[in-house]
Amino acid sequence: MLLGVNIDHVATLRNARGGIDPDVLTAARICKDVGAESITTHLREDRRHIKDADVRAIRLLPKTRLNLEMAMTDEMQQIALDVKPDAVCIVPEKRQELTTEGGLDVAGQLDRAIAFVKPLVESGIEVSMFIDPDISQVSAAYKTGAQFIELHTGQYSEYFGTEKEEEVFQSLKGAAIFAQSLGLKVNAGHGLNYENVKRMHEIPDLVELNIGHSIIARAVFVGLAQAVKEMKELVEE
Ligand code: PXP
Repeated sequence: MLLGVNIDHVATLRNARGGIDPDVLTAARICKDVGAESITTHLREDRRHIKDADVRAIRLLPKTRLNLEMAMTDEMQQIALDVKPDAVCIVPEKRQELTTEGGLDVAGQLDRAIAFVKPLVESGIEVSMFIDPDISQVSAAYKTGAQFIELHTGQYSEYFGTEKEEEVFQSLKGAAIFAQSLGLKVNAGHGLNYENVKRMHEIPDLVELNIGHSIIARAVFVGLAQAVKEMKELVEE
């Protein structure tokens, strides 16, 4: 499996003091240099962490794969078509949430999702829909023309180590296998850490895991390069 490192919280720390430290671009470079296959950033509507200039600067880093998470809005579609990240992941977004809560309801807005995805795919961007492990959402994501889904592992992470773990894990695995049977490629992410990430190897053919908070949190104690290296070892086959 490949590792995408979400560096949003480097920007959260930077913005806390309104200055330039810690530098997001340096963080992206370090992650890439120690083997992260993608740099993932979420450009939120309220720009609470990553800013437009960060996305554009990361895009210019040589040999760096940029995965842009964004809401299904006209503004974000324009930015994606202009910046041309390697991949976009379409996520739901509520202003007041602390982090992305729940997957995108693709089934409930299928026509809009189809229209949103089309120009992105036509411009050569890989499109992924961030959805809950729910068969109807997987089917809807397939109908949008997106090549990927990213399965929301939030519930799995929340119930990891409890008696509900197996049930939520099996629904993730089932959703992944169903998506692959349709021809979708499957990523996963949200709430993954150095412990619960290990079971992702039990899900066949996952392409990439996108992990942010646990890596940036560990980086406070061991440094970013070491934190990414440790996660990469766990994610690699
Ligand atoms: N994938 C998606 C689509 C997300 O929205 C997020 C959070 O921004 C992540 C992965 C990473 O989640 P975490 O920070 O909990 O590792």
